[in-house]
Amino acid sequence: MADTVLDYEAEAAHYDRTRGGVPRAEAAAGAVLRLVPAGARTLLDLACGTGLVTERLTRTGLRVYGADAAHAMLRTAAGRLPGRTVRADARRLPLPDASLDAVSAVWLLHLVPFAPDIVAEAARVLRPGGVLIATVDKDAAHDVGSDIDEILRPLRSAASASDRSDLITPHAAAHGLDPAPGTDFTGHGQGGTPRDTVRKLRSGYFASWFDGDTASADALAAALGALPDQDRPRADPRYRLARFVRRG
Ligand SMILES: C[S@@+](CC[C@H](N)C(=O)[O-])C[C@H]1O[C@@H](n2cnc3c(N)ncnc32)[C@H](O)[C@@H]1O
Repeated sequence: MADTVLDYEAEAAHYDRTRGGVPRAEAAAGAVLRLVPAGARTLLDLACGTGLVTERLTRTGLRVYGADAAHAMLRTAAGRLPGRTVRADARRLPLPDASLDAVSAVWLLHLVPFAPDIVAEAARVLRPGGVLIATVDKDAAHDVGSDIDEILRPLRSAASASDRSDLITPHAAAHGLDPAPGTDFTGHGQGGTPRDTVRKLRSGYFASWFDGDTASADALAAALGALPDQDRPRADPRYRLARFVRRG
């Protein structure tokens, strides 16, 4: 998909294996469910990906649907959620206004330059009292306190992540979504190694930090390459889930 850093059509084949698998999915789904109001009957999981998280959003009385823009991701999700997936861009959902009780978006807003449009669309499809639950500040949760973080943090802080909670929150409020207490979950298996971080850097994941400045990217790669224990994962991150309630 051209709008995201990663090509999820290609990622689908190894996505579940490389993103913490079932332990991460269970942690994410459990955290989302903690924030869904007791009486909610419908939930749309935006950017459901392979449906690994979505299929775990199960609760009596709650009907769960998944939407994603990538064919390959959605094919796997369709096997997990038969008849309950739709291919859709999160900016243009094929749903009427005020038709859902809850919308979730795990690991979506940090990927796209148009996070505000997604928030606005979620606001449109939510009923009064409905909730939007979304990961925010995702990349800032990585490697916290580690030697990798020491190297990345100055650049990370200077860059403006698209899922920054201090930007998303006022934007949500402008679209009728008031902030409410959120929660967090453990990103099992998501602690980075120096070698993997260099690989991410080389694949363009951090490209927005450099604006084509290859010398700075090379210097960062060299600093990461000099760290000890190149293949030892640092601590698992704790990802933040924000919650917003649709005003009546
Ligand atoms: C990191 S994956 C997250 C998948 C899933 N939520 C999870 O936690 O495993 C990001 C997903 O966002 C989807 N995506 C990216 N941009 C999108 C958009 N504009 N509309 C809908 N889905 C999108 C990708 O296809 C991919 O499946």
